[in-house]
Amino acid sequence: MHQKYKKYLYKPCPLTNLIGKEMVHLPQCDSTNRVAMDWAQQASAKNGTVIICDHQHCGRGQFGRSWESLPYKNLTFSVIFYPENLALDNLFQVSMQVSLAIVDALVTYVGSGLAIKWPNDIYFKKQKIGGILIQNSIQANKVSHCIIGIGLNVNQEQFINERAVSLKLITGKEIPLTDLLNRVLFCLEQNLFKSNSAELYNTYVDRLFGYKQWRYFMINHEKIRGQIEDIEESGKLGVRIGSTKKYFEYGTIKFVFE
Ligand code: BTN
Repeated sequence: MHQKYKKYLYKPCPLTNLIGKEMVHLPQCDSTNRVAMDWAQQASAKNGTVIICDHQHCGRGQFGRSWESLPYKNLTFSVIFYPENLALDNLFQVSMQVSLAIVDALVTYVGSGLAIKWPNDIYFKKQKIGGILIQNSIQANKVSHCIIGIGLNVNQEQFINERAVSLKLITGKEIPLTDLLNRVLFCLEQNLFKSNSAELYNTYVDRLFGYKQWRYFMINHEKIRGQIEDIEESGKLGVRIGSTKKYFEYGTIKFVFE
């Protein structure tokens, strides 16, 4: 192993009662989401089990994209979560809870400048610092389990994508991965069990990148000016364009950065 890599030992989270109490640490794997999904289906995995790996070589992103992460530099992990009575119509709730948890955890390190780019990209100013991939299993019209995959750019200093940033690039400091992981798991536990949906929604839109701002979007290959007005319960983005409001599914609208 090259000396510049610091190896971490991930232990059950000391700050939580459920999330991360069971910690499965793999030196490498294709995708922690894939491993977590198998784990959740085969074994009776405990609620809140975390699968984390040092080197994820086939990380999955949203929309079939990939998630690149240098070994030992970042956090790549998945949480197996069995929600109680989560109806299919409320799936977006988990997405909001997880995004807010990550922002809460990162605020400690960077202060202001964090935002959630709809639906659940974590941004610092105009650059992406983290991504979330939630994969759900459905049984009898209810969500039986969610695999919450989280990738955070922590100590990596170079990225191919110019719109990516890490905590180290922002703060100038090396961040111990174990401390950050515990912080994120703590914030997840704080957020995942919140039941006040109005409060959740209000906090989410408060953190939403571009909320109530007139800005440009790409819609059907066309650059269009619009303003994010609200989010439907299903998670669709409500954007005012001229005198009408339209709702967009993920993938049908893109932010234009200027
Ligand atoms: C995205 O922004 O497109 C979502 C990225 C999610 C990446 C994480 S890394 C840990 C977990 N395992 C995966 O294969 N993907 C998620």
